[in-house]
Amino acid sequence: MGGVAVLAGGLSSIAQSAGPTKEVRLVAGPGRARVVPSPHPETAIWAYNGTAPGPEIRVRQGERLRVAVENRLQEETTIHWHGVRVPNAMDGVPHLTQKPIAPGESFTYEFTVPDAGTYWYHPHQRSLEQVERGLCGALVVEEPEPLQVDRDVTWVLDDWRLLKDASISGDFGNRMDAGMSGRIGNTVTVNGRVRETFGVRAGERIRLRLVNAANARIFGLEFEGHRVQIVALDGQPVEPHAPEGGRIVLGPAMRADLVIDMTGAPGARFRVMDTFYQDLEYRLLDLAYADAPLRERPLEAPLALPGNPLPEPDVGAAARHEVTFDGGMMSGMMGGMMQGMGRGHVWAVNGVSASGHVMDPMFALPQGQSCILALHNNTAWHHPIHLHGHSCRVISRNGEPTRHREWQDTVLMAPRERAEIAFVADNPGDWMLHCHILEHQAAGMMGVIRVEPPGTRT
Ligand code: C2O
Ligand code: CU
Repeated sequence: MGGVAVLAGGLSSIAQSAGPTKEVRLVAGPGRARVVPSPHPETAIWAYNGTAPGPEIRVRQGERLRVAVENRLQEETTIHWHGVRVPNAMDGVPHLTQKPIAPGESFTYEFTVPDAGTYWYHPHQRSLEQVERGLCGALVVEEPEPLQVDRDVTWVLDDWRLLKDASISGDFGNRMDAGMSGRIGNTVTVNGRVRETFGVRAGERIRLRLVNAANARIFGLEFEGHRVQIVALDGQPVEPHAPEGGRIVLGPAMRADLVIDMTGAPGARFRVMDTFYQDLEYRLLDLAYADAPLRERPLEAPLALPGNPLPEPDVGAAARHEVTFDGGMMSGMMGGMMQGMGRGHVWAVNGVSASGHVMDPMFALPQGQSCILALHNNTAWHHPIHLHGHSCRVISRNGEPTRHREWQDTVLMAPRERAEIAFVADNPGDWMLHCHILEHQAAGMMGVIRVEPPGTRT
């Protein structure tokens, strides 16, 4: 089968295509890393292949990926391929889609990668501790014809809560973090280290893939002195546009692909600021220009990415489901009005506070059905809401149509915000819908949606 025919056929025919297979081995285990510069000591971490983030996995769109995972941790783990439309059995959700990988055991994930873009991988087992200790990595799916740029760079953004001796604070899932904004750290890293500078050259065009791998921190990045174009969100192409207010906002688990022309002068420095939290802005790093330019004027090349083979939801004929998020401190709902609330379970989805990954689905969708989820954030807090197995068009926010109808797998909702997302339920199985602030997830903010193949409707 030719590549073009496969792409035109959509997800199901891609899943059957027999392209080349990329083999990767990931060993999850303890490691050490220089998170903060000397004279601080190194930090004991949990790592894939010894580093945090783990190795960047790169595949071509339509390729098969086979990842053999070996668990050398003292506890069970899994890997979830965040944003990739994998078959349910490869989704890495403990007990719901697979038996967790016991210490000393291995598991092989294998799937075809249908969409180009920027994705990431992380454990779905006790992720509030496993991800925080360093288990995460970028997964880049290259377009058959990549954008013309001088450099394709990934920044895995993360934050850590370190003690004075540079060790990771062990207060995972404490009540304050669980009931409020989640575990915000005190040390922000790019690709696992606190950085002073990122070297660039005048005239250079960079495709910058941002991945927010933090448990709870929302980033709002501003590139001083530069015109930034967003070309993809959560891996999916979007009409190239400047970020609203000049700030790229990324909730936990979200990604953005940027194209930046380095229009500064040789030898110059420009700050990259994170201004998301009011009065807590800080400098992430400086863009530091080399003395020699790369070229006199920026590259002239198109910015728009080719679309991925996503099925277009029929909004007019879509089934509509309401999903409400409640709980947290300052909500007036802490007293256990919701099923399962109490004893550290402070968040609920459609009235249920989950205590594990296995639960009755909130609702079932027949496979192939277009649907709209009307999301209601009834809380005083931000929540990045993630749906597994699908990408969804964000069609409205607070009743207003969105400008770009962007595809997302993780939708950041402001306090009290409403959003409508639309997608075709084409991927059969039980799929998580949860907040990606990992402390909120652990404290009940997750649910399951079932997509039923024809003939199984009961
Ligand atoms: Cu990135 Cu359910 O997770
Ligand atoms: Cu949340």
